[in-house]
Amino acid sequence: MEIATRMSRLGTESAFEVLARARALERAGREIIHLEIGEPDFDTPVHIREAAKRALDAGATHYGPAAGLPELREAIAKHVSATRGVPISPEEVVVTPGGKPIMFFTILALVNAGDEVIHPNPGFPIYESVVNFVGGVPVPIPLREENGFGFDMDEFVRRLSPRTRLIIINSPQNPTGGVLDRTQLERIATAAVERGIPILTDEIYREFLYEGESTSILGFPGVREHAVLLDGFSKTYAMTGWRLGYGVMPVPLAEHVTRLMVNSASCTASFVQLAGLAALEGDQTPVARMVAEFKRRRDLIVDGLNRLPGVSCARPRGAFYVFPNVRRTGRPSGEIAERLLSEAGVAVLPGTAFGAHGEGYLRLSYANSEGNLRTALDRMRPVFESAAGR
Ligand SMILES: Cc1ncc(COP(=O)(O)O)c(C=O)c1O
Repeated sequence: MEIATRMSRLGTESAFEVLARARALERAGREIIHLEIGEPDFDTPVHIREAAKRALDAGATHYGPAAGLPELREAIAKHVSATRGVPISPEEVVVTPGGKPIMFFTILALVNAGDEVIHPNPGFPIYESVVNFVGGVPVPIPLREENGFGFDMDEFVRRLSPRTRLIIINSPQNPTGGVLDRTQLERIATAAVERGIPILTDEIYREFLYEGESTSILGFPGVREHAVLLDGFSKTYAMTGWRLGYGVMPVPLAEHVTRLMVNSASCTASFVQLAGLAALEGDQTPVARMVAEFKRRRDLIVDGLNRLPGVSCARPRGAFYVFPNVRRTGRPSGEIAERLLSEAGVAVLPGTAFGAHGEGYLRLSYANSEGNLRTALDRMRPVFESAAGR
């Protein structure tokens, strides 16, 4: 079968490839600790599961409107208005199966061949993949450890051009756990609004913030009219497998994104949307409990990593990832990640899975039990001792 040439431009997410390799090792009898995949290890809170069961029994098993059930769009509009401090109407909300389609649809709807798209590097690999897929030109902005893995603002300003068609930001960030501070957001907002460049703000880790205040770029003057907010239920409510996310965007773009839904998934599963409604309107204490637990684990893993030879790890303010610097080992991060999997049975990702500027780093997800994190740290030690030449 001859494959269309555009497929050669579509990348992938290495987390799923490493997961597959780790699973293959498990089938062969190895015991693996999974620190490669970005999903909460918590179960979806019980009241959300109960709502889904009730919805199924009540017959919410049919097609629904392509942009989402009106009651969920309304609840999302209310939630986003309250959390970002800007008035949002339900017509600006499109519900999708996970947050990821918002990335795909926004880029499809906005980026022409030859258009430039600014994105963070290291960053979520799907941004660059989809920009390449549509024939756009990815313009990576380095995130540097020295400035808390924020945008290199000088580079950002230098890389803006008359062909810049979209600016993608992600805060709190995957893979570094970094958070863009108010000053950085303000500078990005001002530059984008002045030039009329749309912003895609990926805030899927918004609830996972351990220090400081949560600021959305949506709140800066003029941004709302130019921005797409990506958020969803996967991380906040431990609902990765349910596939439920949303975008908030100006109505004319929402209409195009809805047409992309009609042409692809038709709609998001109806009973899943009703579970999402229960999530937004119900008890938020399970979220607070999970975030408090993640903060404890963050401290455990950061302290543990900093005790390993050749490793130094900044304490990230958000998400549930750490991005330790392993340059002092003198070995490429791909080699270290490979050795950690094959020799220590600990699956992690090399920083390069998130772009060239990730070289010298690993990404570990600490969405795993405290016991497993401690065991993983113990098992990693001999690999680092040997890599560091001890
Ligand atoms: C930065 C970022 N954005 C979006 C997503 C997609 O989330 P979802 O599972 O809701 O599609 C992820 C998932 O890993 C992510 O890390």
